[in-house]
Amino acid sequence: NTQNSESRGALIVLEGLDRCGKTSQSTRLVNYLNGIGHSVESWRFPDRNTGVGQMISSYLSNKSQLDDRAIHLLFSANRWEKRSLMEDELKRGTTLIVDRYSYSGVAFSSAKGLDIEWCKAPDIGLLAPDLVIYLDISPEEAAKRGGYGGERYEQREFQKKVALFYQKLQDPTWKIIDAKLEVEDVEKLIRDMVLDCILTCKKGKPILKLWA
Ligand code: TMP
Repeated sequence: NTQNSESRGALIVLEGLDRCGKTSQSTRLVNYLNGIGHSVESWRFPDRNTGVGQMISSYLSNKSQLDDRAIHLLFSANRWEKRSLMEDELKRGTTLIVDRYSYSGVAFSSAKGLDIEWCKAPDIGLLAPDLVIYLDISPEEAAKRGGYGGERYEQREFQKKVALFYQKLQDPTWKIIDAKLEVEDVEKLIRDMVLDCILTCKKGKPILKLWA
């Protein structure tokens, strides 16, 4: 086996308010990395394909009601049910570009009034991202982008609160990008950060645990 056992992929998370451009940037990034020969996969949370994910999806589209803490724990369970697969992929050398992760989990639930430490607790011990790219946009600017869709959290006042809790979650793995820049400029900034991160992980940076 010639594969260097330390040559792992990077766990890279994109975060931001609804309509910050995360999803289209993550598609562009994955296409770019594929094009230059990197092994890369596009992931997103919530992963609506699992049983838990279907409960979450039904809640988000207002087809079902759930207690705030119950839905919070489902979002967390949805990440836990994917944890070992994520680790396997990283160890196989695949870089994962993940659209939303625990920071969304904590920011959105805290914005409803739940205690932030209580919100973090169930996600402690998940895989820690190597890089978190936060696409920074004001709730006003986000709302201008064609208006929000019909899902549960897509309201300006609520998004304002979410933004405040995102701020509290920033740590040294975060890089913040002004999401009002031109799409191509945002894309270029993201590429540089990501290539740098992939290199660091290849060189043997250990996989750490979140909030541990
Ligand atoms: P999506 O639009 O990226 O699929 O995300 C659906 C909504 O779920 C979005 O408003 C953010 C919210 N969310 C949480 O409240 N908790 C979580 O843990 C995650 C991943 C998303």
